[in-house]
Amino acid sequence: MSAQTVHIKSFGCQMNKLDTALVGAALKEAGFGFTDSVKEADVVLINTCSVREHAEERVFSHLGHLKHIKESRPDMLVGVIGCMAQRLGGELLARDEVDIVCGPAQIPQITGLITKTLQEKKKTLAVTEKIRQAAPENPALEEFESVYDSNDAQVPAQAYVRVMRGCDKFCTYCVVPYVRGPEVSRPPEAVIGQIKRLAGEGVKQVTLLGQRVNSYKYNTCGKTYCLADLLYMASEIEGIEWIRFVTSYPAEECYDEILRAMAELPKVCNHLHLPAQSGSDKILKAMNRNYTASKYLELLDKARDTVPGIAIAGDFIVGFAGETEKDFQKTVSLVEKARYKNCFIFKYSPRPGTTADKRLQDTVSIEVKKRRNTELLAVQERISDELSKRFLGKEVKILVEGLSKKPHLNSAKGGKKPDLCSKNGDLRPQLVGRTETDWIVVFNGPESLAGEFAEVKITRTRPLTLFGELARKD
Ligand code: SAH
Ligand code: SF4
Ligand code: F3S
Repeated sequence: MSAQTVHIKSFGCQMNKLDTALVGAALKEAGFGFTDSVKEADVVLINTCSVREHAEERVFSHLGHLKHIKESRPDMLVGVIGCMAQRLGGELLARDEVDIVCGPAQIPQITGLITKTLQEKKKTLAVTEKIRQAAPENPALEEFESVYDSNDAQVPAQAYVRVMRGCDKFCTYCVVPYVRGPEVSRPPEAVIGQIKRLAGEGVKQVTLLGQRVNSYKYNTCGKTYCLADLLYMASEIEGIEWIRFVTSYPAEECYDEILRAMAELPKVCNHLHLPAQSGSDKILKAMNRNYTASKYLELLDKARDTVPGIAIAGDFIVGFAGETEKDFQKTVSLVEKARYKNCFIFKYSPRPGTTADKRLQDTVSIEVKKRRNTELLAVQERISDELSKRFLGKEVKILVEGLSKKPHLNSAKGGKKPDLCSKNGDLRPQLVGRTETDWIVVFNGPESLAGEFAEVKITRTRPLTLFGELARKD
């Protein structure tokens, strides 16, 4: 039998993308081939997210498309994996086009599940029954940590490394603890061993992943390791040049140690993703976030005092249950004070099973949520614009990711023509990279720079993007 071909698509966060890449590596090892075209695939896997209703709607619409394809190709196998698979289980399996439903904890078994479903020609369900009592997961999947070529989000010389799974925080709006289960940290030697192997394969930047990565904790040999310890150990690894970590929860625990590690270790990138979610203490309390707006701002001050030049990113939810205009204005005021590099802003989406959904009424209309979203984005855009302009005329060091996916538009107002050549008629492709502080940099250069460090002189800026000319390659 010729090799079966697989198409995998990711719909979620970095953790989800890491799972997708690891599934790709596992399937490759098992002899599967890959295709970018759904129409040519024998097996289509969709790695899903449940964090907002919209994320689930996108998956349903994709499934509708697959159902249509399956009418002419009934042997095509469709697997739904990840958080939505865990949340909806049998309900998804009941759909005509779905053959496999596999939760995040069962992803290590994916090769066997596909083989079994192909052989037995019957549907397969693999999810965790009592997710909050789940035993520490089988770490087998992390063995496929090498630089794989699954078709999703693979960036040369960069890798994600999971340091912990799950979340115990139970913010009242959030589905993650219910789909990813309890927090389990990986042993430090497993994390460090993996980073060493990745470095041996040419990886230069690792991003340590956890839903609350700063709550990483592992007891071994009479010592409790925290995230700062991992940063010190990872910094010693030859070949690794930049180390990032996401996402942090705004808490004092371990915070000073982590900031000190950032300040002391040149390899640790001066970038912190520290979601605030709201600027209103009343809303923060209703969200079960355990801090006040002023406490949060103190944490930012401390970060800026300890790590000069640090760039901070935030997340906000607008229109949470009970959010009045006054509460929202407190969020606006927090964003003004925080001076984030960028912010991710989401409209509150009640998730079935969460405390907020069970106990609080979704009081804010969609129109008001949209308006608050736009207003907050505009505040942040002004700040990002001011911060980005500081780069004009400066040279920045970046790690090149590869070809720019979206053609970045020439004019700030957004002309239709992609910026494919520079003024001097440079026909080299448009590349994208990031600075240590996570600014996106777009420039023209040879595609061979992907995975390399380079220096770019910034000539033009937009709120979230710096544009420049290649000064030199490191
Ligand atoms: N573990 C990370 C990210 C969790 S999900 C953290 O704690 O920061 C990413 C972001 O999605 C959250 O920061 C939050 O801003 C948003 N989010 C989570 N649940 C949501 C919901 N029900 N509606 C709207 N946004 C939500
Ligand atoms: Fe969700 Fe809160 Fe956990 Fe983040 S910390 S994953 S927002 S429950
Ligand atoms: Fe990530 Fe979405 Fe799951 S944010 S952890 S893929 S619910």
